[in-house]
Amino acid sequence: MRIVLGVGGGIAAYKVASLLRLFTEAGHSVTVIPTEASRQFVGTATWEALSGNPISNSVFDAVDQVRHVRLGQEADLVVIAPATADLLARAASGMANDLLTGTLLVSRAPVLFAPAMHTEMWLHPATQANVALLRERGAVVLEPAVGRLTGADSGPGRLPEPEEIFAAALRAAEPSTTFPAHGSLSGRTITITAGGTREPLDPVRFLGNRSSGKQGVALAEAALSAGASVRFIAAHLEVPPPAGVDLTVVETALELREATLQQARDCDVLIMAAAVADFRAQSVSDTKVKKRDDGENPVIVLERNPDILAEAVEQRRNLGGPAVIVGFAAETGDDEGTPLAHGERKLKRKGCDLLVLNRVGRSLVFGQDTTEVTILDAGGAEPETAAGSKSEVAKVVLARIAASLGASN
Ligand code: C5P
Repeated sequence: MRIVLGVGGGIAAYKVASLLRLFTEAGHSVTVIPTEASRQFVGTATWEALSGNPISNSVFDAVDQVRHVRLGQEADLVVIAPATADLLARAASGMANDLLTGTLLVSRAPVLFAPAMHTEMWLHPATQANVALLRERGAVVLEPAVGRLTGADSGPGRLPEPEEIFAAALRAAEPSTTFPAHGSLSGRTITITAGGTREPLDPVRFLGNRSSGKQGVALAEAALSAGASVRFIAAHLEVPPPAGVDLTVVETALELREATLQQARDCDVLIMAAAVADFRAQSVSDTKVKKRDDGENPVIVLERNPDILAEAVEQRRNLGGPAVIVGFAAETGDDEGTPLAHGERKLKRKGCDLLVLNRVGRSLVFGQDTTEVTILDAGGAEPETAAGSKSEVAKVVLARIAASLGASN
C-alpha cells in the first residue's frame, strides 16, 4: 500500500517514528510529509532515513512532478499523526496552504487522524466541531488517549500508541462491503441534483420548500470519495456546496430541468435528490405585489411543473443516457397503503432504476442530519434499508449504485 504519513507540529511527533517503522516493516511504501512546525520536534533526516523516501512540505519542491497533486492521487491511505488542533482546523476548512493539506484535498483515499494536543484545546468547541465535520465527511478521527500530557497536567489529549494507530489505519484502508470501495466509481460521471427549487411570485417573493440539500451534498462527497467525477446541480442549499464538483447553480424547477436534461445526456448516473416544486405561479409579477387599499387579496394561480425525473427516463429511452437513474421520495403510510407500497408504485410510475424512500412522519427528514431510507430496485433486488447520518446513508446508496453499474456493464 502507498501511505502518506502527515506529521503535525506537536511533541508527540517523536512517537510517529515508531509508527513509520511499523508501516515500513509491514511492507508499505511511506511518504512522510512533516509540517513546517513539526520540524521543530523531529528533523527531516529522521523521516528520510526511516522511510527511505525524500521529504518535503513545500508545494514548490519538485514542481515538475506536480507533487502536491500526485502524492494525494497515488495514496491508498493518508494517516495524520499527531493531528494538532491547527491541522484538524485546516483540514476541516479545506485549506491547502502547504503540501500536507494540499495532499489531503486531492486524495480520495481513506484518511485517519490521530489527534494529540492539550486537553483544553481538544475539548474546545472549535476543535470538537472540526472533528465532527471531518468524521461526517468520512475521515476516521481517533479519540486521543487519556493520561499525562507534556507538562504536569493530565487528561484526554495524548497521542494513541503507535500500535493502536497502526491497527486503526489498516482497518480504515480495508474495503467495506456496505460502503463503495475507494475507486469503485473512478472513471464514472455522476450528475446529482440537490436542494429545493424556488418559484418566483414577484421580484422579492417565491414559493419554496424545506429541503436543506444536505443529502445531495453527502451523496456528492461519497461519490467523490469513490473516485467519480461529480456534476452537481444545486437549487437552494442551506449548506455549502461540496468542494471538487462541477457546480451549476439553478433557482427554479424549469432551470433545474434544463440543466439536468442537458447534463444527463452523457453521464453514467443521475441522482435526483433535489426537492422540485410541483407547481409554479402561472404569471410572475414584474413589480412587487402591493397590499391593496380596497382590502382585495391577491390570488396566486399555480400550474404544474414538469416531472424532471420522468422526463430524464423518457430522454434515455429516446436518446440514451445514464445507465442508472435514481429518484428520491418521501412517503407516509395512509389508507391506500404502507410507505413501501407507495414507494413501489412511484418507482414504477417514474420508471427510474432505484428509488430512495425516506420514511417521513415520526420525525421530518428535512434539514435533519440523520435519516432512515429504504432503497427500492426496479431490477427486482430485495429492498435495502439504511439508517444513520446522511453521509452514512449516502455511502450505502452509492455502494448500491456501484453494484448496479457493475451489473449493467
Ligand atoms: O413525485 P415526487 O415529488 O414524490 O418524486 C420525487 C422524485 O422526483 C425526486 O427524485 C425528485 O427529485 C423528482 N421530481 C422531479 N420533478 C418534479 C418533482 C419531483 O424530478 N417536478
